[in-house]
Amino acid sequence: MTALTGAVLAWGVPRLRDLPWRHTRDPWEVLVSEVMLQQTQVARVRDRWPRFLARFPTPAACAAAPLADVLREWHGLGYPRRARNLHAAAAEVVHLGRFPDDLDGLLTLPGVGPYTARAVLAFAFERDAAVVDTNIARIYARLAGRRLTGREVQQHADAALPVGDAWVWNQCLMDLGAVVCRPVPSCGDCPLADRCAWRGSADVADPALGSAGVSGRQARFEGSDRQARGRLMAALVEGSLPLAAAAEVMGRDALAAARLLDGLVADGLIAERAGHLVLGA
Ligand code: ADE
Repeated sequence: MTALTGAVLAWGVPRLRDLPWRHTRDPWEVLVSEVMLQQTQVARVRDRWPRFLARFPTPAACAAAPLADVLREWHGLGYPRRARNLHAAAAEVVHLGRFPDDLDGLLTLPGVGPYTARAVLAFAFERDAAVVDTNIARIYARLAGRRLTGREVQQHADAALPVGDAWVWNQCLMDLGAVVCRPVPSCGDCPLADRCAWRGSADVADPALGSAGVSGRQARFEGSDRQARGRLMAALVEGSLPLAAAAEVMGRDALAAARLLDGLVADGLIAERAGHLVLGA
């Protein structure tokens, strides 16, 4: 174990946030939590993760449900393509007859990329996988004091990983990124301050900005396509809608509405049936 790893564990283990998905090792439950946490805040996932799993406790239960039911259960979490992907991943697990438990197998599941695959490996199977999400990429770029490529971030993460302790290690790093090494950091509370190249110095540009895997600020929601699509999805959660009403529901002109509808149909989130729009494909 490196000195850096020891310092993070000594800081993190006694402070580990008590989050509901940290009490399970079930791969489906972990997958659902990680997909939700990709783009939805922890506070909201805390409420919605148990509800989703009460409804769809296993991949088989999810795969057996119509996509429209999964989208309805997902409603309010945003980015509904995630729900479509989960539904498809559930079907694939059923088809495989078992939950994949290695990197290549997990990467074949719809919507599962390098981040989510490693998160399931570490958090469900307790395998030695180094998870890199936006918070963790920010930590490594700041420690290095320069922008890092995606490959470099993963190399730093792989080098720091304490063998046999991947579960707690990745959780501690996530907490460090969420609580201390935030976009505006609290370096005074950081266990790595004395080995950090950047150390939140006001005169040196934050090396995390522009580093691979570090997200910038979220795009404006007001007036966005995402807002217009969200309005339509919200209406369809309540029931079908005449095609002719879509533009008004979305608050867009006919041309813009047609383009947005095409996108939603192509994404498999909505379908047209006899002049009406319905949820799911
Ligand atoms: N964000 C993504 N995965 C997480 C986890 N396991 N705990 C807390 N925040 C997370």
